[in-house]
Amino acid sequence: MQSLLKLAALAAACLTAIPATAQEPIKVGMVLEMSGPFADIGRQILNGARAYVKARGDTVAGRKVELIVRDSTGAAPDIAKRLSQELITNDNVDFLAGFGLTPNALAVAPLATEARKPMVIMNAATSIITTRSPYIARTSMTLPQVTAPLASWAFKNGIKSVYTLVSDYGPGIDAETTFKKTFTAAGGKIAGEVRVPLRNPEFAPFLQRIKDARPEAVFIFLPAGEQPVAFMKGFAERELDKAGIKLIATGDVTEDGMIDAMGDTPLGVVTTHHYSVAHDSPQNKAFLKAYADFVGTGRPNFMVVGGWDGMAAIYEVAKRLNGKIDGDKAMEVLKGLKLDSPRGPLTIDAETRDPIQTVYVRRVQKVNGKLYNVEFEQVQNVKDPGK
Ligand code: PHB
Repeated sequence: MQSLLKLAALAAACLTAIPATAQEPIKVGMVLEMSGPFADIGRQILNGARAYVKARGDTVAGRKVELIVRDSTGAAPDIAKRLSQELITNDNVDFLAGFGLTPNALAVAPLATEARKPMVIMNAATSIITTRSPYIARTSMTLPQVTAPLASWAFKNGIKSVYTLVSDYGPGIDAETTFKKTFTAAGGKIAGEVRVPLRNPEFAPFLQRIKDARPEAVFIFLPAGEQPVAFMKGFAERELDKAGIKLIATGDVTEDGMIDAMGDTPLGVVTTHHYSVAHDSPQNKAFLKAYADFVGTGRPNFMVVGGWDGMAAIYEVAKRLNGKIDGDKAMEVLKGLKLDSPRGPLTIDAETRDPIQTVYVRRVQKVNGKLYNVEFEQVQNVKDPGK
C-alpha cells in the first residue's frame, strides 16, 4: 500500500512537471451562428478561419492551433453568453472569436473583460461594440465606416432624394443614422424612412410605400444572407426599378456569396464596402486560391475575409508573444496591428480597436456572364466616423 501511494505521488509529480504551454494547443473559442436563419453568416466566417489555418499551417510559435466551434443558433444573446462562459471556464480558451451578429457580440463583451480574454470580432459591425470591452478587437468593418462614403457618392452623383430602409437593430440603425447625417449635410433630402424587423421581415408593404413616395433612390442595409435575396425579388416584382427608383446599399446586400441567387435584378446597383471578390491584387488572388483549395465551390464573401483576417491577427499575436498568450499582452499586439489583407491594407486602430481600411465604391456588373461588385472609386484609410 505504502509503495502504491508513493508511485501515485511520483506519477502526479511527473504530470505537473510537464510545462503546460509546450503541450497544449492555442485554443480559439468561436461563437458563431451555425444554424437557423443566419446560418450562412456562421458558415462563411468559419470557412475563412479554417481556410487560413489550412493555408498557413495549424502550428504557430511552436503550438498547435485548435478552433472550438459553438453554435449560437442565430441572434441569441443568452445562448452566445452561456457558450462563451463555457468556453472560458471549461475549455480555458486563449481567445474568443467569431461573432457574426451584433446582439451576440454585445452580450459577450462583459465576459471578455471579466476573464481578460481577447475577443476578435470577425463580422458584427455596430459601431459601439468595441467600446463595450477593452479586450475587443475587430477585423470586419463598422456600418458608419462603409455608409458615409456612399452617402457622399450619391449626392455628388446627382441623387437628391433618398428613402432609407434598414434592419431594425444596431447595424441598421447605425447605417440609417450615418446615411441621413452625411446625405443631408451635403444637401440631400430624406424622402422617408423605415426599419424592418430583424427576424422574418416582410418587404412587400414597405416596397409599395417606397414606390408611392417616388424617391430618386432607396438606400438599404440588411444583414447579409437570405434577406437581401428576398428584398431583391420584391424590388423586381413591384417594379421599383421600372418606376425609375435607383437602389444603393452597403455591400452586405450584394455580397459575393449570395449575388448569384438574385437573378439580374442587382445589375447596376452601387454599393460601398471593404471587400469584393473582384478586387484586383496579388493578396486577393492568393486568398481566392486558398479558399478554393479549402472549400472547393462557391465564392467567398466579406465575412470569409473577416474570419481569415481574424485568424491572421491571432497568429500574429501568438508569434509576437512566442506562444505565451496573455490577454493584456495580446491586446497590446492587436492595437495598431497592420495586416496585408485580401481586401487591401488593414490596420486595427490603436485607439478604438476598429479596422482602418479602404472603402470601395462598386457597381454590380456582369463579367464573363457572372455578377460581380466591380470597384470604380475608393476612399483610403477610412476610420469609423462616430469615434
Ligand atoms: C451585425 O449583426 O452586426 C451584422 C450582420 C450582418 C451584416 C453586417 C452586420 O451583414
